[in-house]
Amino acid sequence: MRTHHCNEIRPEHIGQTVTLIGWVNSVRDQGGVIFIDLRDREGVTQCVFRGENSPEAAQLSHTLRSEDVIQVTGPVEERLKTDDVDTKNENLETGAVELVAHKLTIVNKAEVLPFQLDKELSNEDMRLHYRYLDLRRPRMAANLKARHVITKAARDYLSDRGFLEVETPVLSKSTPEGARDFLVPSRINPGKFYALPQAPQQYKQMLMVAGVEKYFQVARCFRDEDLRSDRQPEFTQIDLEASFVDRDDIIALIEGMLVSMFEAVRGVKVPAPFERLTWHDAMDTFGSDKPERRIGMEMVDLTEELKNCEFRVFSGAVANGGIVKAFNAKGFAGASVGQIDKLTKTAQEAGAKGLAYIQARDTDRSTWRSPFVKRMTDEEVEALRAKLNIEPGDLILFAADQWEPACEVLGRIRLEVATMQNLYEGREDELNFLWVTEFPLLAYDEEEGRWTAVHHPFTRPLPEDEEKLKKGELAGLRAQAYDVVLNGHELGGGSIRIHEADLQSAMFTALGIGEVEAKAEFGHILDAFKFGAPPHGGIALGLDRLVMLACKEDSIREVIAFPKNNKGMELMTASPAPAAANALRDLRIKSTVEEKAKV
Ligand code: AMO
Ligand code: AMP
Repeated sequence: MRTHHCNEIRPEHIGQTVTLIGWVNSVRDQGGVIFIDLRDREGVTQCVFRGENSPEAAQLSHTLRSEDVIQVTGPVEERLKTDDVDTKNENLETGAVELVAHKLTIVNKAEVLPFQLDKELSNEDMRLHYRYLDLRRPRMAANLKARHVITKAARDYLSDRGFLEVETPVLSKSTPEGARDFLVPSRINPGKFYALPQAPQQYKQMLMVAGVEKYFQVARCFRDEDLRSDRQPEFTQIDLEASFVDRDDIIALIEGMLVSMFEAVRGVKVPAPFERLTWHDAMDTFGSDKPERRIGMEMVDLTEELKNCEFRVFSGAVANGGIVKAFNAKGFAGASVGQIDKLTKTAQEAGAKGLAYIQARDTDRSTWRSPFVKRMTDEEVEALRAKLNIEPGDLILFAADQWEPACEVLGRIRLEVATMQNLYEGREDELNFLWVTEFPLLAYDEEEGRWTAVHHPFTRPLPEDEEKLKKGELAGLRAQAYDVVLNGHELGGGSIRIHEADLQSAMFTALGIGEVEAKAEFGHILDAFKFGAPPHGGIALGLDRLVMLACKEDSIREVIAFPKNNKGMELMTASPAPAAANALRDLRIKSTVEEKAKV
């Protein structure tokens, strides 16, 4: 069998006889001499077939095609360097040497592949259908490896700090994380269902009551929600929980873990501690609870300056208790009509009535293009100029509404402007970490007319808000919750938890969960908290997102071996699929196919 892998041969091997096995990456015929790049997971080595070395091997080499699996044996030689040609390949780690083939075995022939591995393929469904071929590409192989390296770094880091890896059930009971559940029917209990866990939240808290003290798990989670580039119905968390800790303990622990993960995978030492922003400040300045801070364009409040503005959109919003906010898209005054329309449409889709703007072409206000600037006084214009640092060529974008919707709308516009202006270019290597803290505990759902948990119902309020929760004063309560953000993506979220039965009951009451329902759904938690529950808290990091960002990919599908496409299909095995009739019979469920056949 093989003596080396395909990225191992170096000048020090010259003269040794080696055996490599792998896939034919490319075949080049140069006047009867055949050059094969032989590839395995680790890399590529050039093998040369010449008649004078072995007539048999040379003859057989003429039949080779891309992706055949072959074994080659022969001495390692230095690549030729004559006066006019240097055949060394600087771009290849094995590029100084080559294997001179004396023996060739064709292990398995390959048919012509449905697509070429050395070319980008935009048809992602095709890639997913033949995922086992797609994963042969060096980029994909590197992503799988990076995922392993990152996961191992987390396991090592947490193990070194006394965390125990404990598995929790996958066939379990519904646990609310804000998505729909996937249900699995139980054959032995007809009519009853397991829910796949949206997260191991309740189990890990029960492990704290059990005295495990420090738990972690590389946990598979399942959420039936609409898919996006950073969302899959089935994904992985680095999930952890610890007893006798406060928020800063968890934050410091995770900072250390992220530093060690990025050191392992990218070889860079990320500076820690990370900056922190309260949720309020994150929303106020960036219009998002997961701020992208690499692109500047901080949002500025102009309520005071514009409250009396003749332009009713502004003064009217302020009169209604709202605000006016804006940001300066530097150098974007030349935005096309189409671009402004597109931004306006985004604002409207986000719930705004419109998007007010000023294209500040030159210094003088008479050169400014805007639907309303003529209705502003000189003082108002000067105040804008000063607060937004308006210079010739800038585009100013405004939102006027209640605080939260105004921030959200402008936050979205800010991200779209960054994409339009290509502001991410050249910043791919930046790792901008941030903690967002002091989230609201509850949010009011206007449609349903009730309060919902912003994180989940087990999150602890700030100490000063505990009594208010018990008394049912629910507006403005803040949570001991924290999210870690990287480059505008929510990497992870967690909180210090409620560990007392009475506070947990107050939380359920706040959420409109009555006593009977609370007992039926969460009786185990309420019971457990009566038997000496330790104070505890934790967090879960989205492993797929983490690896995606570490690998500079735009989609988590690129770092998952067999992901679902955006219709929730795993295309290689074509799942989900109709169930076999006998499986349904066991569950006493009638197959629709069967039913139709009867009619
Ligand atoms: P949360 O719901 O915030 O918290 O999830 C934690 C992290 O998991 C990742 N994530 C996802 N990744 C890919 N696809 C998805 N559909 C998806 N949904 C979430 C995100 C997110 O930050 N039990 C709590 C944690 C805790 O309180 O300890 C929880 O699950 O990166
Ligand atoms: P109107 O006077 O309604 O034609 O609006 C003038 C400008 O204000 C247009 O560019 C609208 O898109 C914009 N606009 C309307 N409502 C808002 C709002 N709530 N916030 C920001 N801009 C708005």
